[in-house]
Amino acid sequence: SLERTLSILKPDAVAKNVIGEIYSRFEKAGLKVIAARMAWLSQSEAEGFYAVHRERPFFKDLVSFMTSGPVMIQVLEGENAVLTHRDLMGATDPKKAAPGTIRADFAESIDANAVHGSDGAETAAVEIAYFFPSSQIHSR
Ligand code: CMP
Repeated sequence: SLERTLSILKPDAVAKNVIGEIYSRFEKAGLKVIAARMAWLSQSEAEGFYAVHRERPFFKDLVSFMTSGPVMIQVLEGENAVLTHRDLMGATDPKKAAPGTIRADFAESIDANAVHGSDGAETAAVEIAYFFPSSQIHSR
């Protein structure tokens, strides 16, 4: 079904100058960019976004990495957008990511893993609302 997902190109991907290459993969897979903005997240914005991971041992490193430079945040829309985007990203740990996936091609480590994507339709709705008011989402 037609879905939306929240996608973030992390500071490592932005620093590598591969925003366009990654957007091209989204478009070729049938995902449309219906909202986008660049942001340098504050500590509290990053902590709030990743609140579900607050008790995990990697939380501090995750927040510190996500605030280390600008990120590119987008809403993608398409058939089965959540799973399509997750397939394009590959496994969380780039060492385990299948060849040809974004993480296999651009990521260095489980923290600097190039992209974030919502893990389900309900999470996507929450994550999209965290960054974009509906007035900034342009479905067409
Ligand atoms: P992301 O999809 O942005 O969601 C949480 C992030 O935590 C994840 O990608 C990884 O970059 C990072 N992370 C670091 N260590 C782990 C771990 N052991 N398991 C899951 N995520 C991890």
